[in-house]
Amino acid sequence: MTRPAARPYTIIFSTATLDGRIASSTRYSMLSCSYDLARLRLLRGAAEAVMVGASTVLIDNPSLRRRLNPSSSKYYRVVVDGKLRLHERLRLVNEPGPLVIVFTAVHDDEKIERLKARGVHVHVVGENGVVDLAKAMEILVVEYGIKRLLIEGGGILNYNMLRAGLVDEIRVTYTPYIFAAGRSVVEDPGATGFTTTSQSPRLRLICLEKCPCGNCVHVAYRVESTCCPPATGPYAEPCLSERIAALMEKASKEAA
Ligand SMILES: NC(=O)c1ccc[n+]([C@@H]2O[C@H](COP(=O)([O-])OP(=O)(O)OC[C@H]3O[C@@H](n4cnc5c(N)ncnc54)[C@H](OP(=O)(O)O)[C@@H]3O)[C@@H](O)[C@H]2O)c1
Repeated sequence: MTRPAARPYTIIFSTATLDGRIASSTRYSMLSCSYDLARLRLLRGAAEAVMVGASTVLIDNPSLRRRLNPSSSKYYRVVVDGKLRLHERLRLVNEPGPLVIVFTAVHDDEKIERLKARGVHVHVVGENGVVDLAKAMEILVVEYGIKRLLIEGGGILNYNMLRAGLVDEIRVTYTPYIFAAGRSVVEDPGATGFTTTSQSPRLRLICLEKCPCGNCVHVAYRVESTCCPPATGPYAEPCLSERIAALMEKASKEAA
């Protein structure tokens, strides 16, 4: 494992079917109940940056905006895009919003200039399409002051970050569906993965709670086998149901 000089406290958050899929074979991925969306808002609201893989951006075209604490503190949107597949028609690039930071590993000067013209910060870290994630984490802390990072998938980015020992917490909301194929929460594109329990990241359960919807389960594990200590400590209490219920109640009062 490469050790970055500094790295943010990093949480993976995914919403999965009971069989651990975040998207079906057709890339359908609408799994969250309204409480889970509130959970995501809480986690995003407490993070200084959200990060996703290029395929999630290309398939879902998210805005990744923050609805809680929208302008009160630092917030960036980060994409890991080894081959620089991002383009100008995506919401992240063509809609106004918090700064977008892209990490890539190809020297496509023309494409980089086009993205820069839209205000996107592009960093080439790595070679042959493989981003040096440890270096990327270092840049987030040193150049942008990001100490709390939320990763919102997909499975390949989750795998690469875990493999590099750069993740502190994994949170998964299990929903009452089964896809039986598609993308898993953690997906090795090389189809080898971690081959034994001793190869697996070491995990310790820190929260297990029934979602307020009554039909989903949220689990949080601390990763104990990281490459090196993060720049700061945890940023959310392990269990969130009480805060989610309060958030939902406030929203329904405001709507009434
Ligand atoms: N249910 C949920 O919680 C949830 C959350 C997020 C996404 N999703 C779903 O998951 C699917 C996408 O997931 P996915 O696993 O296919 O893709 P992904 O993780 O979103 O993106 C994979 C891509 O990220 C880039 N990447 C990641 N690590 C890299 C590294 N170290 N170096 C260079 N590039 C790197 C590569 O882009 P290049 O190809 O450009 O090199 C790679 O192909 C979508 O269907 C989406 O809807 C579901």
